[in-house]
Amino acid sequence: MLKAQDRIFTNLYGHESANLQSAKKRHDWSDTKKFLKLAPDQVIEAVKASGLRGRGGAGFSAGMKWSFMPKNPTEDRPNFLVVNADESEPGTCKDRDILRNEPHKLIEGCLIAGYAMRARAAYIYIRGEYYNEAEALQKAIDEAYDAGLIGKNACGSGYDFDVYIHRGAGAYICGEETALLNSLEGRKGMPRLKPPAFPAAVGVWGNPTTVNNVETIAVVPAIMRRGASWFASIGRPNNAGTKIFCISGHVNTPCNVEEAMSIPLKELIEKHAGGVRGGWDNLLAVIPGGSSVPLLPKEICDTVLMDFDALRDVQSGLGTAAVIVMDKSTDVIKAITKLSKFYMHESCGQCTPCREGVGWLYKVMCRFVEGNATVDEIDSLLDATKQIEGHTICALGDAAAWPIQGLIRHFRGEIEDRIKNYKLRAA
Ligand SMILES: Cc1cc2nc3c(=O)[nH]c(=O)nc-3n(C[C@H](O)[C@H](O)[C@H](O)COP(=O)(O)O)c2cc1C
Ligand code: SF4
Repeated sequence: MLKAQDRIFTNLYGHESANLQSAKKRHDWSDTKKFLKLAPDQVIEAVKASGLRGRGGAGFSAGMKWSFMPKNPTEDRPNFLVVNADESEPGTCKDRDILRNEPHKLIEGCLIAGYAMRARAAYIYIRGEYYNEAEALQKAIDEAYDAGLIGKNACGSGYDFDVYIHRGAGAYICGEETALLNSLEGRKGMPRLKPPAFPAAVGVWGNPTTVNNVETIAVVPAIMRRGASWFASIGRPNNAGTKIFCISGHVNTPCNVEEAMSIPLKELIEKHAGGVRGGWDNLLAVIPGGSSVPLLPKEICDTVLMDFDALRDVQSGLGTAAVIVMDKSTDVIKAITKLSKFYMHESCGQCTPCREGVGWLYKVMCRFVEGNATVDEIDSLLDATKQIEGHTICALGDAAAWPIQGLIRHFRGEIEDRIKNYKLRAA
């Protein structure tokens, strides 16, 4: 369990003001100038040494990603940092709390990360529905400009750095980093092919760009202030640091909570979310990392740890760390069908396996809910998910495939029973 003194987001619940004066009392913006006096590569090395992995879903090393940026940007081809505040993954609502209650951590993080990457500016792409959060963030950006913390000669360091907000219009696909860049440029929010053009080489307006999640950037000042080894000491090797978990569904007290990475799932739910409705034995399954990752049945939830490697080892993923709890009252086939509908609706339609395949998955899943299918179709459906997975431009195709794969892996018997019962009723 995370020690109180190790908590980074001490105002996650908004008990104190988000303004600059209060943020400074929480140690935001202290010693920032000192970090801007280090060589940019020293900052990158510190972030690498901390073990920070991206909090947006894929878990790629943040320091490593920053090191791909050109070391000598030019006036006509500057580097940019883009912060992904699109947060649309069902079950996920952690960045929202940072944006509205701890915006100065994000802005200070932008400055330090931007400096390390020799960036000219940061663009924070925020989902359209986060209207109040965008207002709160803009207020904090204005305060930071007025106090000389960002803008020309940021913090008196001699480094010029601007921070802009760009509001999206509510499409889930705009959270995918290259679709986000297209949207930021005023184009349709459709993912770009990678390779050839990775954002660090050709990003926003053709310039080198790094896209990072809100939480990834917002923890950087704490890493610099408290030291890489402090951050690395929390959690397990290769799974370092604190993490904001969003716990929803059939628990007594749904919440967002910052915890140590690698906390056991059972402890997380019992300590912070008041336990499963009706007690732990009433648990059916948990989706541990937002709607894209495969669910886990109770037997695995009993002992699994909440980190990148432990969840990968049980064929799921940490994803966005949005923990969706389902008790035994859940129609698990129907629950996963809802997710299929979501992915069908959010597909941008560019690639055939996703455009056609995800709609097909949804139609078959609707019949599975009724039981109006044959047992052979379970394997056909599984086969279809395998033909979508890894065969599309972006990972939305995988995200549509994985929940169904998880369902078949762990609840095949339930689907078969549903089909048998339907046949009995029809006979
Ligand atoms: C369909 C789709 C939606 C995504 N939505 C988000 C999102 O809302 N927020 C986010 O940070 N990353 C999202 N991602 C992941 C981003 O593409 C990217 O990996 C991430 O912003 C990188 O930040 P990180 O390295 O700090 O994790 C999404 C990916 C896909 C495929
Ligand atoms: S996988 Fe789906 S959402 Fe992603 S680019 Fe292809 S059609 Fe668009």
